[in-house]
Amino acid sequence: MIQKPSMHGTTKARGCAHAGLGRFGYLFEGLQSWGAAMSDVPGESISPDEAARIAALLGGAGGVMDGGVAANHCASCVPAGYTFFAQFVDHDVTLDVTTQLHGPDLRGAGDDEPVKHLPNLRSASLDLDCVYGFGPEASPHLYSTDGTGVMLTGNAHNPDDLARNHQGRALIGDPRNDENIYVAQMQLMWLRFHNRMLAGRSFEEAQRQVRFHYQYIVWNDFLKRICDPAVYSHLNDALLDAAARIDDGDTDYDPKGLFDVTDHHGRPLMPVEFSVAAYRFGHVTVRSNYPVNTALPVIELFDERFSTEGFSPVPTELVVDWHYLLPVDPARPPVLTKAFDHLLVDELIRMPNPIVGKRATDHERSLAFRNLLRGYVVGLPSGQNLADAMATLGVPIDPTQNLDFSDIPGWHRIDAPTRGKLEQHTPLFFYLMREAGKVAGGQHLGPLGSAIVLRTFGSMLLNCRSYLTEAGKLTDDEAGRCGGHVPWQPLPEIKGEGVLELADIARYLLLG
Ligand code: HEM
Repeated sequence: MIQKPSMHGTTKARGCAHAGLGRFGYLFEGLQSWGAAMSDVPGESISPDEAARIAALLGGAGGVMDGGVAANHCASCVPAGYTFFAQFVDHDVTLDVTTQLHGPDLRGAGDDEPVKHLPNLRSASLDLDCVYGFGPEASPHLYSTDGTGVMLTGNAHNPDDLARNHQGRALIGDPRNDENIYVAQMQLMWLRFHNRMLAGRSFEEAQRQVRFHYQYIVWNDFLKRICDPAVYSHLNDALLDAAARIDDGDTDYDPKGLFDVTDHHGRPLMPVEFSVAAYRFGHVTVRSNYPVNTALPVIELFDERFSTEGFSPVPTELVVDWHYLLPVDPARPPVLTKAFDHLLVDELIRMPNPIVGKRATDHERSLAFRNLLRGYVVGLPSGQNLADAMATLGVPIDPTQNLDFSDIPGWHRIDAPTRGKLEQHTPLFFYLMREAGKVAGGQHLGPLGSAIVLRTFGSMLLNCRSYLTEAGKLTDDEAGRCGGHVPWQPLPEIKGEGVLELADIARYLLLG
């Protein structure tokens, strides 16, 4: 699958053309869906109505995952800015606009194919298509007309906002990066980083530097913070080992298929275990309020006072000072994310109209309800089932871990028969968030959640052009001196001391 190195020190990607659309699929094929596991009729899944009833008990307004305003107070050790970086990364890799929220279990009869035909409207690679769109030729509305490759930022009302049309809609690669002011300002950060990288470089070289810095931050900074340390260490060793062996010409090396999250063309696919469960972890880390800048030390995430309830221009007074959300300055500790646990704050249990539409029911306004019901539709396996499968790959997880739901407030309000079944067959999103709260103490994802996330991102790095698979272009002389391979390194003017972090990008732009 992997092609031989094509020139000194560079390895062609294994089949991933960036900025192409892809498909969804499964990390593990042939597993029974959660809906089928809950059914009393062998070979059939529970009905959409029954799935919605259970999703409401767990994730609906007033359900077990409704954390209200109190949930806001529990913190992890992760700076709050990473929530919006996580959301920005989500919008780079996955977008499903095809499945019906109240549809049937697509895997219910034991068939994996329907989900494997679902289109993913993002490329499942860390290529920043949410920033670049399809590039200057195919997405010219994102770029300056002068042909320099400069990306548009700012508008007549606010130079520190995104470019917008006359109705206030953002002109960006993925419309979801205007869903709240923080993700909109994160988008602006990466647009400005690209524009800075253009100085003295061609568009392609600037884009390559931006992508590699971004990918490096995703794997070495962000994922290290949000994943279980033992699982991160295991999969990090495996990834580096695989990259080195591939670079040495062992073209198909992938330890135990850990990173073979690909379709039959060798292109990364988007596993629904990631997109509909594990990577929706970001929803539980969202706080209901945040600081913005010195003048506004606290606002609601969707604040009516500023009409910023989603997909709206960022007023000048709401320009985000990242010092409050990222460790830009050691003397100014940032606010932290909400704890990683099964609770969602009020803002996400009762989402506003611009996000869910005026006609949404109370339950449909809840992101926890939507995540659980979407998980039923795409045929996710139960957490227990997936843990068993993951353990066979040698990842350090304990599939027998006891998540003991009995101390969760509201658990005993669920009728006993349903409760009994849920303890045996826990919907994946709820299982993973409980795992994070119970096993990881709310500090990061638990072992299974981490393994899903790391395998998926590892596959993107290994199967696409990335800082891991494509070394710098070397002259023959340079290649001779370093044995043919120089791993890509962040630019010294950007990286602070130690590993390149997200805050380094914010700091670099501030110093600009
Ligand atoms: C900040 C507030 C956020 C809001 C209001 C929000 C809202 C939403 C909504 C409405 C959906 C579609 C739900 C459905 O019908 O299935 C969604 C999907 C999703 N969200 Fe969020 N989200 C937020 C933050 C995040 C964060 C921080 C992350 C990342 C860790 C994240 C990851 C995802 C993913 C992976 C999907 C599925 C995307 C797809 O494949 O289509 N979200 N979100």
